[in-house]
Amino acid sequence: DASDIEKGTYPHYMLKEIDEQPLVMRKIVQNYQDGEGELEIDSDIVKAMKDADRIYVIAAGTSYHAGLVGKQFIEKLAKIPVEVHISSEFGYNMPLLSEKPLFIFISQSGETADSRQVLVQVKEMGYKALTITNVPGSTLSREADYTLLLHAGPEIAVASTKAYTAQLAVLAILAEVTARGIGHEVDFDLVQELGIVATAMEALCDDKEEFESIAREYLTVTRNAFFIGRGIDFYVGLEGALKLKEISYIQAEGFAGGELKHGTIALIEEGTPVIALATQDFVNLSIRGNVKEVAARGANPCIISMSGLETDEDRFVIPEVHSLLTPLISVIPLQLISYYAALHRDCDVDKPRNLAKSVTVE
Ligand code: G6P
Repeated sequence: DASDIEKGTYPHYMLKEIDEQPLVMRKIVQNYQDGEGELEIDSDIVKAMKDADRIYVIAAGTSYHAGLVGKQFIEKLAKIPVEVHISSEFGYNMPLLSEKPLFIFISQSGETADSRQVLVQVKEMGYKALTITNVPGSTLSREADYTLLLHAGPEIAVASTKAYTAQLAVLAILAEVTARGIGHEVDFDLVQELGIVATAMEALCDDKEEFESIAREYLTVTRNAFFIGRGIDFYVGLEGALKLKEISYIQAEGFAGGELKHGTIALIEEGTPVIALATQDFVNLSIRGNVKEVAARGANPCIISMSGLETDEDRFVIPEVHSLLTPLISVIPLQLISYYAALHRDCDVDKPRNLAKSVTVE
């Protein structure tokens, strides 16, 4: 309950929760380590993952965006095919299911009615379900066969921040432990890499003035904004756009860099902010090509790249982390830019209009 949790010196819960992310990373790693310091997940869950011929991730809002990134983790490390679905669509638009599906529900609150409806439906069909949630004992946790907790501490601000990065960390751990369980080689040390992520998060949280000035420069007067990225950066762009629209009411959309030319580029006008993420080596040149295309049509591009891939034109460079884990840190500039954009526009950051923290109606 919000009244039990102090904001301390913070003006808003959202800012406090953004700042808690490095600590949450460390807590998650601790909670998922065994006595020897190795990452560990309940053996029944690993067995359910191994037994599945396909995983269906069901979620809404920010949790859906975490699922899109989680699919990359599970497919790249554990090599199990994954589909990610919006919960409100799944019930009446059910895909043809594989023979041995496993359902993963991602929900910060564990109470989202749209997701619960799917859980009830697939349990009736006799399938197994795992819930990844921040709230022990929540409805989705109780009604699923298995639960993995986020250990993020209560999230009060309506716009989800620390729960998103916690979801990504837990999904990465699930993917890595499953991969090892199956016998696939994982060629990096996830404990160490998540430690590097936590340190990078700290550096970003210490750079707030920079994000405040980016928000001022790009988002003070605009009525819309676009986020572009390729590969895993596209999914982070979707989350960045959701954050911005939720709390600042700027119409924001995330697009795959290559898809722009197939329609969206028509929306680019003089001064339209286009925030581009460039954290992936294999698409670095092509996303920069997309930036040139929009800039040539008058857009005001803001490139956020990762150390090692940067050029002189970039507005901000995030510290280097493992290429699969970049969403855990590239989202932080987007959270902070959204926060300051909302603040500059006098919006109610923690309680945006028309939104609820947990939506228990369909
Ligand atoms: C609401 C919130 C969103 C959240 C979504 C899913 O719409 O406003 O911030 O992402 O529900 O919530 P859940 O608790 O299931 O992750």
